[in-house]
Amino acid sequence: MKIINVVGARPNFMKIAPLMDAFREYEDLETVLVHTGQHYDEQMNDLFFNQLEIPRPQINLQIGSASHAVQTAEIMKAFEKVVLEEKPDAVLVVGDVNSTIACGLVTVKLGVKLIHVEAGLRSNDRSMPEEINRILTDSISDMLFCTEQQAVENLRREGVSPDRIFLTGNVMIDTLLRFKSKIQQSTILERIEVREGSYAVLTLHRPSNVDDPEQLERIICALETVQRELPVIFPIHPRTQKNLEVWDLNARINEAPNLHIIPPLGYLDFHKLLEGARLALTDSGGIQEEALILKIPCVTLRENTERPITIEMGGNCLAGSDPERIVAAARRVLNGNGRSILAPPLWDGMAARRIARLVYESLTQKIAPIGMTQN
Ligand code: UD1
Repeated sequence: MKIINVVGARPNFMKIAPLMDAFREYEDLETVLVHTGQHYDEQMNDLFFNQLEIPRPQINLQIGSASHAVQTAEIMKAFEKVVLEEKPDAVLVVGDVNSTIACGLVTVKLGVKLIHVEAGLRSNDRSMPEEINRILTDSISDMLFCTEQQAVENLRREGVSPDRIFLTGNVMIDTLLRFKSKIQQSTILERIEVREGSYAVLTLHRPSNVDDPEQLERIICALETVQRELPVIFPIHPRTQKNLEVWDLNARINEAPNLHIIPPLGYLDFHKLLEGARLALTDSGGIQEEALILKIPCVTLRENTERPITIEMGGNCLAGSDPERIVAAARRVLNGNGRSILAPPLWDGMAARRIARLVYESLTQKIAPIGMTQN
């Protein structure tokens, strides 16, 4: 039996790492790792493979950056050849990036079983490219693995047959827990000369925040105030860096003495930085979840989240891009609010094992034991 696992962009790497490990337990299951090449820079790609001990992909499609249509189409053209040649029994895709839907669509058109890990999340904001990727991928998948109960409900509401839906936990948290001690060993705090608990960490890359100069300026305005009260460390995404240059906004940042831009970080350094922060400011999806597990209060610079459990657990709040709301939310945290003490059910480091077992049983036509499919 053969399963192709697909990765493309930075947030996919920490999700595929524990799955590759978990599949290794099944000797008669051959795994092929395909990288679409959506992300390719050393800092966005190689560093993660090395640090997370992910096997080198057997196949790299080397698609790179392009418009949504061109990127998706090029991935589809190249991935179709791979599926025809490899003849897998199943293809597994993770998350919500363009590589996810591109490879998913190719898979089902060739009559191969499609598995989606991190299914069912909905921001209900269709202006987000990821939301379209999520809805489409879920609607064509044969097995859908969810991180939280709300995702299960979303899929049911959309008419997905309950026997395809599995609540198995969060593979990204598997990685965070597995690498806890290596994260501790990172020297990033010394290298950038900050003390634990004395700074905020910021990430910003959503097109809705950084592809519109007015929107980006509003966020910078909020950051100018926040950095007066707490230094802000900002590992910058290439998309955001380019836009700051294009719109000549770098000078504004340089004039804010406690807003420090640093290059994108590898997995271990970034999570050490996050773990030592007093506050996370982010528009990322995954960081909302990771901050929850690390018990770092999170202010999300968006109007919605596809990960409502992070709000329910009390560790996250939505502040949009309005400067007053962002500053007020940051101040609430500085006044001692917003730290969650709870962890969502099944975010216990075992999600990938649960998924691998269910996939294996499904491919070998065995029935999953009662209690494994918690849908
Ligand atoms: C993509 C995902 C997004 C995810 C994000 C994480 C989609 C639709 N978006 O967004 O869901 O949260 O990855 O990073 O799939 N670039 C580089 N080096 C790289 C990769 C990109 O410099 O290795 C630059 C390119 O100029 C590119 C831009 O960053 O045009 C954006 O990259 P792209 O993959 O299109 O989207 P992301 O914003 O990274």
